[in-house]
Order: sequence, then structure tokens, then C-alpha cells
Amino acid sequence: MMTPDNKHRILILGASGFIGNALYKELGPYFKTFGTYHISNKTYENNQHFFQYRVEEDDVFEILQAVKPSVIISCLRGDFHAQVIAHQHMAEYVASHDCKIIFFSSANVFDAYSKYPSYEEDKTLSDSIYGHFKIKIENMLLRLPVKKVVIIRLPMVFGNQSPRLKEIKQHIADKTPIEVFPNLIMNVTTDFKMTQQIHYIINRDKHGIFHLGSTDLVHHDDFIKEMVALITSENVRFKQVYTTNEDRYLAVMPKRNKLPKHLHINSTELLEELDNYMNYNS
Ligand SMILES: NC(=O)c1ccc[n+]([C@@H]2O[C@H](COP(=O)([O-])OP(=O)(O)OC[C@H]3O[C@@H](n4cnc5c(N)ncnc54)[C@H](OP(=O)(O)O)[C@@H]3O)[C@@H](O)[C@H]2O)c1
Repeated sequence: MMTPDNKHRILILGASGFIGNALYKELGPYFKTFGTYHISNKTYENNQHFFQYRVEEDDVFEILQAVKPSVIISCLRGDFHAQVIAHQHMAEYVASHDCKIIFFSSANVFDAYSKYPSYEEDKTLSDSIYGHFKIKIENMLLRLPVKKVVIIRLPMVFGNQSPRLKEIKQHIADKTPIEVFPNLIMNVTTDFKMTQQIHYIINRDKHGIFHLGSTDLVHHDDFIKEMVALITSENVRFKQVYTTNEDRYLAVMPKRNKLPKHLHINSTELLEELDNYMNYNS
């Protein structure tokens, strides 16, 4: 249900997380935005726009009834089985209300294919439990009326608050080796660009499957080493991990649902943006 001034009411499941919080900050000034958190936290407890939600124990329907969202954004983690049931309940809500759902999926829905990058309409196939779980929810949501569903497939997301960058900084501080995968060819993105892309998708009332990764491909080891060079000029140890003998792709590229040019990003711009952010905050 939209507000009387025709603004969306947005519910972000996982709004205390890396992606959810970046979205909350981007969308909050423009829409009636609500969110959930899992671990008890005074800041959220005192914020009437936040609800505590434990996917394994709580019924998402109660939050849906309290918020009456016109857009649900799902960027949760938690037990896979419980998440599947929660998404069944969300799908029922979406089917019977004036509401759409934006689901955060992953490049891992294609992790059984290793020879090429993947496009929106490629058939999903996964070798991993995580990939299987994402495919299950995608397929469930794709049975809803097409205009009510947005599937976002993300590659690795980097940002100053990202767990991946924090982990790299921790290894540098502890002088422990950073794992790199020299055979892995991937694309990447940032929370900064991704939130702008989601804002655009909501404003333009888009639907369908979106591959929100950089326009170029990078080798995992090269990319991580360039990122480390932005953080420190000291010698850092790397641990090379080879999972296969051949190059393996884990990349989500757009073909059918392309966004306008100003919303594209390449890996060099991503590193520049992180560098600016780190310099600004140091
Ligand atoms: N980050 C990436 O590079 C990336 C790439 C591809 C896809 N994705 C997808 O994007 C989504 C968000 O990822 P993220 O990196 O932002 O994760 P995150 O930082 O770990 O955030 C997860 C969110 O889910 C909440 N949560 C955790 N366990 C929960 C539970 N048992 N019940 C209810 N809520 C729970 C967390 O609450 P607390 O903060 O209170 O713990 C937090 O709000 C995930 O679905 C992930 O698969 C992420």
C-alpha cells in the first residue's frame, strides 16, 4: 500500500546488515522506509522504523501487517530452511496485496557453470548448498505475476563497511595471509553503486532479473592485491588457493535488462571510489 502522497512504503528485511543498511540510508530520505534487525541493539530498539526479526522463530506476516509495504526488499541471512518458509509467506503477501518484492540473490546460482560469464536468461545451476538455496527462492518468486518481482543477482560486493574489506584489513593488522583464488574470474560491485541501481529500479517500477556487477571481469588475485595496495604499502602475505586447474568464471553480466550508462561501474572506478572513501575517512 502506498502512502497518501503516492510514496512507497518500503520494508527492508536485513536492514542492519551491510547491504540492507546501505539501502536504508539511500532510500530512507525519499520513501517511508522500515527495516528489520536480528541481534538486539539499542539503536534499533529505540527506532520505531525498525523491528527485531529472527527468521527461525518469528512470523514475517506480523511485520508485513504492521508495515503494509508496497515494496519488500529481502537481503537477509540466516537458516536456509527458515528463509525458504519466510519467502513463501512473503510471496503469499505479495500475491494478495499491491506490493512487489526485490530479492537479493547471488552469482552462485550459476556456480556449476565455470566456462563463461552468466546472463539473466541463462538457466541456473549450482553445485553449492548456498546456490541451491538461492535458486529455490528465485524459482518460487518467479511464479508470481512478473511485474511484482525483481531478482537482483550480485557478484562480490565491496564497500568500506563490507565484511570482505574488514576481513582483509584484519589480516593486514594481524599479519596473517590473505586468501586469493588465482583461477577465479569474476565481476565485482560496491554498495555505493548498487544502492543507486536499486533506487532507480524502484523509481522506474522495473521488474525482472537484474545482473548488477561491474562491466569488466577481473582475476580474483589481481583485484584483491590492488585493493590491498590501496590500504598499505607494507609487504602482505597471500595464500594462493587453487580449486580447479582451469580458469573458473563466477560473473553476472547484463544482456536483457541493462541499466543506463550513469549506473554502470567498472573495477577501476570501484577501486578509485574505495580509495577516495578510505582517504576521506582516514
Ligand atoms: N555481501 C555480498 O558480497 C553479497 C553477494 C551476493 C549476494 N549477497 C546477498 O545479499 C544479502 C545480504 O548480504 P549482506 O552481505 O548484507 O549480509 P549481512 O551483512 O550479514 O546482513 C545480513 C542481515 O540479515 C540479518 N540476519 C542474520 N541472521 C538472521 C536471522 N537468523 N534472522 C533474521 N535476520 C538475520 C542480519 O541482522 P544482524 O545485523 O542483526 O545480524 C542483517 O540485517 C544476503 O541474502 C546475501 O546472500 C551478498
